[in-house]
This record gives sequence, structure tokens and C-alpha cells, in this order.
Amino acid sequence: MTKIGLLGAGMIADIHGEAITATGGEIVAVYDPRDHRRDAFAQKWNCDSCSELASLLSRSDIEAVVVAAPNDQHASLAIAAMKAGKDVLLEKPMAMSLAQCDEIMCVQSETKQLLQLGFVCRFSPVALKVKQMIDEGKLGTIRHARATLLRQRGIPGLGGWFTTKERSGGGCLIDIGVHLIDLLSHLTSASEPKRVLGMCSQTFSIESYGYDEMWSTPKPDGTFDVEDGVVATTTFANGITNQIDVSWATHLPASFIRDGITIEGDKGAVWFDLWADSIAFGTSLDGKPDESKVEVRVNEAWDDAFQSEHRAFADGIVNRAVSVEAGTSDDGRKVQTIVEAIYESDAQNCEVQISRS
Ligand SMILES: NC(=O)c1ccc[n+]([C@@H]2O[C@H](COP(=O)([O-])OP(=O)(O)OC[C@H]3O[C@@H](n4cnc5c(N)ncnc54)[C@H](O)[C@@H]3O)[C@@H](O)[C@H]2O)c1
Repeated sequence: MTKIGLLGAGMIADIHGEAITATGGEIVAVYDPRDHRRDAFAQKWNCDSCSELASLLSRSDIEAVVVAAPNDQHASLAIAAMKAGKDVLLEKPMAMSLAQCDEIMCVQSETKQLLQLGFVCRFSPVALKVKQMIDEGKLGTIRHARATLLRQRGIPGLGGWFTTKERSGGGCLIDIGVHLIDLLSHLTSASEPKRVLGMCSQTFSIESYGYDEMWSTPKPDGTFDVEDGVVATTTFANGITNQIDVSWATHLPASFIRDGITIEGDKGAVWFDLWADSIAFGTSLDGKPDESKVEVRVNEAWDDAFQSEHRAFADGIVNRAVSVEAGTSDDGRKVQTIVEAIYESDAQNCEVQISRS
């Protein structure tokens, strides 16, 4: 049974709580600087509430932590946890900058602690099946992939840390784009990124954004200085191109939004909705187009994914290596490289060459 501490007791911590308990792990304690959040979490998950980070990290009955705090806290929390001898499941994005990614990786290599990135979309049941199909050669050689995710009203915590660049590092690119960048790169076995063309937009404002419900806590008098839309293409050294089209909010009617992922190879192509239970598979028989539907066993796709992520984390702790399907710090750094290039491309209004490794 993996004995886990939670660093952060907000929205995603609760989802981790469900996944940890559903997969046989134990939540031992939680730390969050906000008393009411920490205590509510501790009560719900029947664990200890630590008012100091050090008191949680010094406990010998905790072997691993989940970092589920705002993005600007990721590097310092992951580093403190590894230095205290804890394995870490670090929520995405890895950090706020490549420099911070490097600091984390330096401590990881000094301490030899396990560091798994929270790229949970890799564990969606259909994504796991697509990976298997690709590994079996059903799509042949992959050249191109694209992902579309357009939320109608999906700005998280409007005015709070999510929409404040200083605390989040960016908007929908950092929040949901990083999942898709990682997933496409993982599924297509893209090598190192070489060229990036990206465009960011901000269509909505605190005043113009109407909503019924919201992930995380809105702050009406807060800050909204990040993008709510991004389109980007990355070309990798092995010739693969990956495209993302992501928005937190759009005026598009729901009937015109078709979110999904396309992966095209020279023998076949797939289209799938990350949270559905089937994959559209296109190929050709005797040169003629042929299509079929690949069914996938799904219970509740989002919960299934978090549970698989935690099973992989528990296996990684035992085997002392990040499980093959999970995200590593190299993957987190690669995503951060692409993210920084997208912002640079947007700022310079041209394609950016990536020379650094
Ligand atoms: N994997 C996913 O699909 C997914 C989904 C949502 C959020 N996230 C990530 O999870 C993280 C948290 O997001 P959220 O939606 O739970 O945000 P949230 O605002 O709901 O919760 C964040 C919590 O962290 C606490 N906190 C602040 N500083 C802290 C510190 N130094 N140590 C410990 N806790 C601290 C806050 O008090 C708050 O309770 C973010 O990095 C976000 O990108 C991942």
C-alpha cells in the first residue's frame, strides 16, 4: 500500500484522493497553507492535517507526495519533497520555466527519487488503446497528429492564480495545452522539437465572460492577463508534426465543436475523443478506404485515467523507475521547451527554431 502525502488541497487534490483510495493507496496527511482547505480535505479523506510543509515532509510514514498546488509552487515543493526522501507525482505543468525544470532534474538526479509527471491524458482508456495500436504497427509510420479541445466556458478560477501569468506561467496553453502537447508527442514518438509556430489570443475579459459554473475559485476583482486560445504546430527532428488548437472559451455553438485527436500514419489513421469509449480507425483494403470502430472498455474515463496514473505511480515506486506509459521529467521538460517556443513565436510573430537541447 503506497503511503502518500498531498501537497495542496484544492480541486485536483480531491480527484487524486479518490484515485489513491480506489487503487489501494493510503492518504496519510495533507499540507495546504489555507487552513479551511487543508482541514476539509483531512476530514473527507480521514488523514492528518499538517499546518507546516516540513512537518509533513519529515514524517517517516509517508513515502511519496502528490504536488497539487498552483504552478508557481511546483518547483519548490517537488525539490523540497525529493530532498526529504519522498517520491513525487508532480501535477502538470512541470514548472514555470526551463530553468526551473533543470533545477528539479538536478535534485532528482542527486536524490535518486522517483519523479512522475501528472500527464494523466496518457492514461485515458482510448489513449492507452491507441498507443497499443501504434506499437503494433496498425498505423504504420506516423507523420502527423493534431488535437482540438475547444471549451465553450472553461476558464478555471477566473481572476485567480490560473489566469494570473505570474502564478500560472500562462493560460489555456499551460493549463490544457500541455496535456495535448505531451500526449501527441508520446503517441507519435516524436523526437526533440526543432521548429514551432504558435499564435495565442485573448478573446474574453473578466467583464465579458459569463459563466454558470467554474473549476477552482473565481476572483471577480482579480487578474486575467493570459491567453484563452492557442493554435500551434511543432515540427520534430524525426519529421513528425503535431498541431494543437485549444481554447478555454469560445462563442462557437456546441454543435460546431468537435473535440478530438487525429493521428495519421502511412497504413492507417485514428480519430478519438479522449474521454469516450471507442476509436474511429481508417485504413485501406486493396487500396480502397475502409473504416471500423474499435471499442474500448471504459468505466468512467476520467476516473479510470487517474486510477491508472496512480497504479503506474505505485508500480514506479516499487520498481524504482517511472512506468513506461507515464510521463517522466524529460517529458515535462520537453513540453516546457515547446511551451516557451510557442510564446516566443507568438511574441515575434514568426516560426521559432529550437537550438537548445
Ligand atoms: N491533471 C489534470 O488534469 C489537472 C486538472 C486541474 C488542475 N491540475 C493542476 O493541479 C494543480 C492544482 O490545481 P487545482 O485545480 O487543484 O487548483 P486549486 O486552486 O483548486 O487548488 C490549489 C490548492 O493549492 C494550495 N496551495 C497554494 N500554495 C501551496 C503550497 N505552497 N503548498 C501546498 N498547497 C498550496 C491552495 O491553497 C489551494 O488549496 C495545478 O498545477 C494545475 O495545473 C491538473
